Amino acid sequence: MGQKILLEHANVPGIKTYEVYRQHGGYRSVEKALKSMTPDEVVEEVKTSGLRGRGGAGFPTGMKWSFIDKKSGKPRHLVCNADESEPGTFKDRYLMEYIPHLLIEGMITSSYALGCNQSYIYIRGEYMWVYRILETAIKEAYAAGWLGKNILGTGYDLDLAVHCGGGAYICGEETALIESLEGKRGNPRIKPPFPAISGLWQNPTVVNNVESIAVVPWIVNNTGAEYAKIGIGRSTGTKLISASGHCKNPGVYEIELGLSVDEFMNSDEYLGGMMDDRPLKALIPGGSSVPILPAHLIFKNAEGGDRLMSYESLSEGGFASGSMLGSGGFIVYNDTTCVVRNTWNFSRFYHHESCGQCSPCREGTGWMEKVLHRIETGHGREEDIDLLWDIQRKIEGNTICPLGDAAAWPVAAAIRHFREEFEYHVRFPEKIKDKDHFVHEPFEKVRHLVAKQTV
Ligand SMILES: Cc1cc2nc3c(=O)[nH]c(=O)nc-3n(C[C@H](O)[C@H](O)[C@H](O)COP(=O)(O)O)c2cc1C
Repeated sequence: MGQKILLEHANVPGIKTYEVYRQHGGYRSVEKALKSMTPDEVVEEVKTSGLRGRGGAGFPTGMKWSFIDKKSGKPRHLVCNADESEPGTFKDRYLMEYIPHLLIEGMITSSYALGCNQSYIYIRGEYMWVYRILETAIKEAYAAGWLGKNILGTGYDLDLAVHCGGGAYICGEETALIESLEGKRGNPRIKPPFPAISGLWQNPTVVNNVESIAVVPWIVNNTGAEYAKIGIGRSTGTKLISASGHCKNPGVYEIELGLSVDEFMNSDEYLGGMMDDRPLKALIPGGSSVPILPAHLIFKNAEGGDRLMSYESLSEGGFASGSMLGSGGFIVYNDTTCVVRNTWNFSRFYHHESCGQCSPCREGTGWMEKVLHRIETGHGREEDIDLLWDIQRKIEGNTICPLGDAAAWPVAAAIRHFREEFEYHVRFPEKIKDKDHFVHEPFEKVRHLVAKQTV
């Protein structure tokens, strides 16, 4: 069993309530930080821990905290990003639904470290029932004196509010989230200035993912040095992974970073192998935005080294043969999956969710959806595959926020690794028309058919 930091008490009956959470050591980090540490000492512990943001990009949390402008004299804010809209990712929901006080404790300790007196949790509109759970837990925390004025008699004041978004993927992007929190349409802002200098209400602001904040109590209680001992290399600590798709045991897991992908995928402690023992065709390790990996690059990298669940290992080989840990949305595909249909489905999502500010994203996501749809339904042309490649190249890197990249990467990776499947759709439309689109020929046969046809 790997070490559990976040989910240690997740199965304790009643842990959702303040009483039970407190009985299991809850809010100790607030006592320790407020009574015996300066804010800068808390920041130092987080820096020492090597914690990297769990929202997707993996930016070091302690370093981000040290960028917050403390000299301007303006109020500062900590905003928890609980938007969690990336397809395949549902780890933050689990944490908030089952152990809401862990996030609230993390918000208090982290807000103290950053010198914030008004902090926010921004949660996606579709998580209305979780919003209510958080509201209840926040009320309990106020009643017990962990929030409000003069917390523990230390003179530190903190108000915490939970805000429900309208249900838009773009509002997970930190500057769009800030706009939305200010009551405006969730359009990303041009950076710089970064939120650490000018964020919510133009005040210095740190935006962190739920998981990044919820781990801070453990770091404060046990020290950053102890946290840094867990994991591997620059991927310290544990990570929540939400697993879905064609595996035996889908769900949310806390793993120690550095676990092999093979063990995570195949051991009974985790995913237990493939559902119905069908062959593994592909894997998306970090949510819909990250490149899909074909079977031969899942357990081993291109050089034959073991693939590990870590930031570095999953991205070995760059986009040519690697992917990313991203938000930890681990999606498993068996041999019945149509990669073209899956890619079209993602493109449809990104087109729908593009805010429309930047032309390459607004127009490009729509074109990709259209072209993918005609290929998938047997109306594609040979040149459509290169057209798709061209469109995604023109989106990547040409937008204000990375939603454009998030839309482009899955298309690029699908073509890079499964080009024959696209060709098969174009050249053998009769084989896919009027059929259950989820079940295609096995990929090896597709490859063979396409190769034969080319010759
Ligand atoms: C389109 C888009 C959607 C995003 N959605 C989320 C999200 O739902 N949750 C999240 O924590 N980060 C999301 N991010 C990343 C945030 O912009 C930001 O990097 C993150 O909240 C920082 O927290 P961290 O440093 O703790 O990872 C998204 C980014 C983009 C471009």
